[in-house]
Amino acid sequence: MRIAIFSAKPYDEDFLGPRAESEGHETVFLEARLTPDTAVLAEGAGAVCAFVNDDLGAEVLERLAGLGVRLIALRSAGFNNVDLDAAARLGLAVGRVPAYSPHAVAEHAMALILTLNRRIHRAYARVREGNFELEGLMGFDLNGKTAAVVGTGRIGCVLAHILRGFGCEVLAYDPKPDPELEAEGVRYVDLPEIFAAADVITLQCPLTPQTHHLIDDAAIAAMKPGVMIVNTSRGAVVDTRALIRGLKSGRIGALALDVYEEEGGLFFEDLSDRIIPDDVFARLLTFPNVLITGHQGFFTREALEGIAATTIANVTAFARDGAPLHPVTP
Ligand code: NAI
Repeated sequence: MRIAIFSAKPYDEDFLGPRAESEGHETVFLEARLTPDTAVLAEGAGAVCAFVNDDLGAEVLERLAGLGVRLIALRSAGFNNVDLDAAARLGLAVGRVPAYSPHAVAEHAMALILTLNRRIHRAYARVREGNFELEGLMGFDLNGKTAAVVGTGRIGCVLAHILRGFGCEVLAYDPKPDPELEAEGVRYVDLPEIFAAADVITLQCPLTPQTHHLIDDAAIAAMKPGVMIVNTSRGAVVDTRALIRGLKSGRIGALALDVYEEEGGLFFEDLSDRIIPDDVFARLLTFPNVLITGHQGFFTREALEGIAATTIANVTAFARDGAPLHPVTP
């Protein structure tokens, strides 16, 4: 099958290319992000492979279906960017990568926690400037602190283990609690209890109507003063403007984001020569206690190998049986 791969980077070619070839598919790597204007580049392809910031709204899907595309093979776990009702109406199958190294994202979340807590981002810059002063670099022992994991699926479960390894008391919230985690000593409580008790709150849930702006002004007001918030899930799980208010008031002591509500058009690109037009994002960058990474939680060799294997397996299964191995339906 011919696969048009949008938002393609050199590492996508390295991992997806050989895998697709080994299963007899033809690949077209396109640097362009998928939008209504670029959809036409999929002409001649039976499958479109898309990433997290590609636009898979109704308009794009209609254009793709019109070109003869029959499968959307997402190379991501999240599928909040796809209009699933429109896909079903147009007869477009959608596949995703439900699981790949959950360690990649969980370990990145822990790296963010440690960096923020011990001010490694500031220490790195200081030492390179010949400034060895410690003022402003004080952290706290994670051992004995209360850390919360909101969403204990594949990633959240690994993070809960890591946090327990650091000696944290781990609280969790998930509509479907994991009995194994509970047996290990992770305590499931409701969100108000998490907000009241946690020193560190990490978000590992999918973006759904229920989790949209889960962290808003009211949630932040209910948190412990000085709380650390870490979001590696999807940007819109937090209300970014509310975070800025929480940082300005001092209620939020530290914030790490690997994802951002308006990351499309920003993340995955080198904009170092340009002016960033997003004032909310620019404001976030001014806080010394904010650490942002550009959606790199998934970016390990093991995860990319897993993503390539499952993405191409979805295409192969679709070509053979008419359905991807891991379908997403409305
Ligand atoms: P998963 O599907 O294994 O787990 C998600 C968990 O969230 C489930 O246990 C589910 O019951 C729970 N959940 C659902 N609604 C909830 C709610 N309202 N409140 C709290 N928990 C809720 O997914 P996985 O693999 O653990 O990934 C989680 C999310 O992480 C993905 O949906 C994706 O948005 C994000 N992600 C981010 C990456 C990055 O590079 N930063 C890479 C991969 C995933």
